[in-house]
Amino acid sequence: MLQVTVFSAKKYDIEYLNKFNASDRLVFKYIESRLSAETVTLAKGAFAVCVFVNDIIDNEVLNQLNSFGVNIIALRCAGYNNIELTTAKKLGFTLCRVPVYSPEAVAEHTVGLMLTLSRKYHKAYNRVREGNFSLDGLVGFNLHHKTVGIIGTGNIGLATIKILRGFGCRIICTDPYPNDNVIKEGGTYVTLTELLTTADIISLHCPLNKETKHLINTQTIDLMKNGVMLINTSRGALIESQALIGALKAEKISLLGLDVYELESEIFFEDLSETIINDDVFERLLTFPNVLITGHQGFFTQEALETIAKTTINNLLSLSKGELSGNEL
Ligand code: NAI
Repeated sequence: MLQVTVFSAKKYDIEYLNKFNASDRLVFKYIESRLSAETVTLAKGAFAVCVFVNDIIDNEVLNQLNSFGVNIIALRCAGYNNIELTTAKKLGFTLCRVPVYSPEAVAEHTVGLMLTLSRKYHKAYNRVREGNFSLDGLVGFNLHHKTVGIIGTGNIGLATIKILRGFGCRIICTDPYPNDNVIKEGGTYVTLTELLTTADIISLHCPLNKETKHLINTQTIDLMKNGVMLINTSRGALIESQALIGALKAEKISLLGLDVYELESEIFFEDLSETIINDDVFERLLTFPNVLITGHQGFFTQEALETIAKTTINNLLSLSKGELSGNEL
């Protein structure tokens, strides 16, 4: 039996990993806390560690894992911006991930945020429950014929485009590696500047890396159309969060939908309803009536959880036999 120490293990991770762990080769040890320098000793004796988006796999954690002889890291996600990749490679780690689990899950959530903001469903829900059937203040706008700018046209960007084409949106995109399927869907590639200056709605679907960190900042926001809708279901640090506050106050951004936030690791995935949140930028964002924030739930569907669990188990089983699964980084 090979022990896999699963960090950031929530009820649903335990349920799905246990359900699909058919072989008796792997045994999962679940740790509720995040992997960090404080918790890394819990991985002693493990064959591998299994981590999620907000675990911190920095140089210190990698060196400690290496000293315990733990050299396999299985990510239960696609993005890997939380890993010091250069150090991991230097130390000889094998890293595997779930590259595609359900682009449609994130795409549907993205469009859900757009529709909720454009038609104010979140307000209507509360109003009707209180017996208030007035429509004052609920006027929305059609997505039909709007120009949507998609930044990053990989799996999720493409899935989002397919849905939006059904709404009759005009799609413009930017990506250093244009995707033929986007052209087939009727999308047009433009420069980032053209996208920022012409889109009515901008949606981020590129990975977070050194080039894309704070891609959306005061300067790039200035280029956007007045009253633009901005959606981020990718990674929080693609946006310089502080810049959003000025843009919302100036009504440059008229609607903002976030499923991710720059400093979300201190906030998301926990019940903080009885806690004072010390992040003043996040708290200020929550006060705007035209901002909708969800707590990194774009991926969170039954279908995605099933694929994540099955792929993670297959990745680990392959590595336990000295084979590669093809999902290595
Ligand atoms: P992908 O790898 O299929 O596509 C990413 C695309 O972004 C690629 O085509 C790449 O060329 C492009 N790109 C890279 N740099 C760019 C730049 N500077 N400007 C424009 N495009 C650029 O990734 P996928 O599966 O579509 O995921 C996208 C992101 O969504 C992930 O990196 C992850 O951060 C996020 N994500 C969020 C989830 C959530 O629950 N909210 C769940 C899963 C992923």
